[in-house]
Amino acid sequence: MQSVLFVCLGNICRSPLAEGIAKAKVQNMGVNIAVDSAGTGDWHLGEPPCENAVEVASMHGIDISSLRARKVKPEDFENFELIVALDESNLEYLKQMGAQNLVKLGDFGYDGADVPDPYFFDGFDGFIEVFSMIEVCVNNLFSVKFEKLTQ
Ligand code: 4NP
Repeated sequence: MQSVLFVCLGNICRSPLAEGIAKAKVQNMGVNIAVDSAGTGDWHLGEPPCENAVEVASMHGIDISSLRARKVKPEDFENFELIVALDESNLEYLKQMGAQNLVKLGDFGYDGADVPDPYFFDGFDGFIEVFSMIEVCVNNLFSVKFEKLTQ
C-alpha cells in the first residue's frame, strides 16, 4: 500500500492538520493510501492535537481530536513510502536520522517555504493561515506523488 508520514516538531499542530487533511482526501477519493504523522520532539507524547488545531480542522469538517502525538522513529523510513517535513528544521533533523524518501511540504505550491509553527504566535489566525497552506500543499503533493491514484 502507498503511504505517507507528515513530520513537524511537536506533532500537535501542523502535522496532525496535514494528517487530517490528507486522510479526508484519501477518504473522498476512495483510494488506499496510509497516512500518519509524527514529531521530531517528545514534549507532547500521547497528547491530542492542540485546541486551535482541533478547532480549525473541525471548521473544515475534519475531526483530528482522536490523534495522539508520537515521535518519529527510524522504522518509519522503511514503513512509509514518503516522509514529508513541514519545515526546514524538521527536514534537516530527518536527513540526519537517515531518511531518504524525504520531501518538504512547502515545495508543493509555496516555493519551498516553511509551514510556520502557529503554536508560538499569531493566535487563532495563524491556524487559519496554516490550514489553508497545508491544504493547498497536500493537494499538490498528492497530485504529484500519487498521480495514478488521484486521476
Ligand atoms: P507543531 O508545533 O510542531 O506544529 O506541533 C509545536 C507545538 C509545541 C511545541 C513545539 C512545536 N513545543 O515545543 O511544545
